[in-house]
Amino acid sequence: MAFSYMPGFGNDFETETLPGSLPQGRNSPQRPAYGLYAEQLSGSPFTAPRGTNERSWLYRIRPSVKHTGRFKAANYPLWKTAPNVGDHELALGQYRWNPVPMPKEPTDFISGMRTITTAGDVLGQSGMAAHVYVANTSMVDDHFFNADGELLVVPQVGALRLVTEMGVIELRPGEIAVLPRGLVFKVELIDSQVRGYVCENYGAKLTLPDRGPIGANCLANPRDFKTPCAWFEEKETPCRLVVKWCGNFHLTEIGHSPLDVVAWHGNYAPYKYDLATFSPVGAILFDHPDPSIFTVLTAPSGEEGTANIDFVIFPPRWLVAEDTFRPPWYHRNIMSEFMGLIHGQYDAKEEGFVPGGISLHNLMLAHGPDAPGFEKASRAELKPVKLDNTMAFMFETRFPQMLTRYGAELETRQDNYIDCWSDLKKRFNGTPEGDWS
Ligand SMILES: [Fe+2]
Repeated sequence: MAFSYMPGFGNDFETETLPGSLPQGRNSPQRPAYGLYAEQLSGSPFTAPRGTNERSWLYRIRPSVKHTGRFKAANYPLWKTAPNVGDHELALGQYRWNPVPMPKEPTDFISGMRTITTAGDVLGQSGMAAHVYVANTSMVDDHFFNADGELLVVPQVGALRLVTEMGVIELRPGEIAVLPRGLVFKVELIDSQVRGYVCENYGAKLTLPDRGPIGANCLANPRDFKTPCAWFEEKETPCRLVVKWCGNFHLTEIGHSPLDVVAWHGNYAPYKYDLATFSPVGAILFDHPDPSIFTVLTAPSGEEGTANIDFVIFPPRWLVAEDTFRPPWYHRNIMSEFMGLIHGQYDAKEEGFVPGGISLHNLMLAHGPDAPGFEKASRAELKPVKLDNTMAFMFETRFPQMLTRYGAELETRQDNYIDCWSDLKKRFNGTPEGDWS
C-alpha cells in the first residue's frame, strides 16, 4: 500500500479518509459525521502567539479517554531522561563509538532505544536526550506516546513504517521524521533489522531556522517537508499503550487500536523530510561559515540565537574555497555536539568515524580534524572538489550532555579516540614559513 503525504512545513493541513468525515466551517459539530468524536490535540498553550500556536482537531472512532485505562509501571531501563547526572565513573573526555550492536533478542523500536546522552531537565521542559535505536521486531498490538518531548528520528540502517494516529510515514536512511509530543504511534519494520539515531526534544518544538541574509530560499525549503494524509484502522482486539511521562514508563491495556483517526485538520502533526533536498549554502571564495549554515531544524530555547537543539547536517557539496583549510577547523564550543554518520565519510576524520558511529564533543572540550586529515588538507591542491557520498549530522545543544552508563560502558566505545590528534606536529619554529617538513 502506498501512503500519501501533504507538502509544507507548519501548514494548516486538512485530510479525511471517508468522504465528508472532516467537518467544514466548524471544529465541534453537535453530531460529527459517521458518529465520530471530535478531539483537540494541543501542542502549544492555547494562548501562544499565532506564529507558534499549534493544535490539531482529530475526528476519531473513540475519544482518547477510551485509549487509556488504568496505568501500571513499565520498564525500559536503557531509555534515560535528564537530569541523569553521575550515571557512570568514566572520566571527562572526547568520546567516539563504533555502531551500537544490533540486538540478538526480539527487540522493538521502544525496547530498542539506548540513551547515550541526556541534557537539561525534562521537568523544566528544556534540553534533550540523544538515543540510538536498534530493532528487529515490528510493534503489532503495542503503541506508544511520549509526553516528554517530540522525537526526531534519523534512520541509519533499514526502513521503518511510522504508523501514527494522524497517518503513516515510511522512512528510509537519508530521510528524517519528527513525531510530535503526545502523538500515539507504533513502528513497523520494513527491513529485517534497523538502527538509527533519535533526538528527544524536551523543549520548544523544532522549527525552520531564519535564513537572515541568505533570503527566502535554500537550506531546507518548506515544501520538501511531508505530512501524512489521514489513515485509520478499526481493530477490535486487545492492544497496549505505553506512555513515557517525566522519565517514567506506564502501560495501559485497551480492547482496540488507538489508531482510529478518520479525519483531522490543523498544524500539529508528524512530518518527514528527505535530507537530499537540503540546498547547502557555503563559501565561494575563501574560509567557510560556521556549521550553523547547515542547520535543518532548530528548537529555540527562549534566548535569541541560543538553541535548545540544532539539527545540523554535513551533506554532499562542492569545496571551492581558495587559500583555505577546508575541513572543519579546530574548535572549543559552549554548545555540546553529538554527531552521527548516516553513510560515507566525514571530512574531518580520515578513519575511525564509521557509519552508525557516534562522536561526542561536550561543553568546551577541544576537537577538530585528526592528524592524517590535517596533513592531507594542509597540502591538498585547492582545485574544486566534490565532497560526495557523505551524510553526517549533529544534535547540538546549549546544555552539557551527560553520558549514560550504557554509553560509558558500551563495548564499541573507542578508548583510543584521543590518539587521533597525537600526531599533530609542532610547526612553529620562529620563522614565518614554519616547519612544514
Ligand atoms: Fe565543533
